[in-house]
Amino acid sequence: MSAEFPYVRPRRLRTTPAMRRMVAQTRLHPAELILPLFVREGIGEPVPISAMPGVVQHTRDTLRKAAVQAAEAGLGGLMLFGVPAVQDATGSEGTNPDGILQKAIRDVVSEVGDSIVVMSDLCLDEYTDHGHCGVLAADGSVDNDATLARYAEMAVVQADAGVHLVGPSGMMDGQIGVVRRALDQAGHLDTGILAYTAKYASAFFGPFREAVGSSLQGDRKSYQQDPANAREALRELALDVAEGADLVMVKPAMAYLDILRQVADASPVPVSAYQVSGEYSMVEAAAANGWIDRERTILETLTSIRRAGAEQILTYWAVEAAAMLR
Ligand code: PBG
Repeated sequence: MSAEFPYVRPRRLRTTPAMRRMVAQTRLHPAELILPLFVREGIGEPVPISAMPGVVQHTRDTLRKAAVQAAEAGLGGLMLFGVPAVQDATGSEGTNPDGILQKAIRDVVSEVGDSIVVMSDLCLDEYTDHGHCGVLAADGSVDNDATLARYAEMAVVQADAGVHLVGPSGMMDGQIGVVRRALDQAGHLDTGILAYTAKYASAFFGPFREAVGSSLQGDRKSYQQDPANAREALRELALDVAEGADLVMVKPAMAYLDILRQVADASPVPVSAYQVSGEYSMVEAAAANGWIDRERTILETLTSIRRAGAEQILTYWAVEAAAMLR
């Protein structure tokens, strides 16, 4: 190297932990983390989800405790999924005021009040015996508009139970507008919507099927987005915002960071990302084999998702990550 160069040394800003901390552009905070939780009807003990080591289907009782723990960890929110004892063609339990999710919402809200944002999945796949996110037409296809009527009812029973935000995740056209109108007509003006805006037909949802006992045969390609496409994410964003979404989401997260960046740049409302079951399981499996450093990998994935533009992250590691951040 000549005597003159290098004058410019980017490494100066990497020399000490204090220096790196001071110049870090992306910071994670527990308040940005949202914990997904599963509650299953009719069980006496939590049931481990084998494809998601460390994650369980909760009883109503252990769900309450997990919600309190999440609030104490300073998390931003909870996303509740119900696993009913009985499934049928129209997903009746999803609109039963005494269905497992509605009971769980009441339990959790009575426990944590307004100390953490309580959200619920608004979708039929946990409740249908065919496993699709909607009801089926006579030809076996997923009937968009008949499904919207079911979602409107679901929104109202969930809001009646006291949830703060509903999370429509079925990717039916018009779902945000229909849910907004149903909530307003029922007087739930302050119940918000976290829209699953750009949700892809992804293999990364694999372990979730076990988590909710879904019996899906086939796939969701006729309603969820094609992984090959970016532009339609922005089209979905424009529609969801026009229909009244309070927050929007990109899902999965890590294989879709480019989508997240584009949506974050274009969105007038907060943008969330869902680090889904398969993302969790991949890291857990590699770490269990000693192939990667588990904690560093967890924080690196979350930091990357944040850096790409997510303001909230749904992650199964939320409580643990909050502890690591403290
Ligand atoms: C639909 C829903 C799914 C997930 C969240 N909401 C499954 C799907 O669309 O196939 C996946 C979450 C995960 O994989 O962690 N109710």
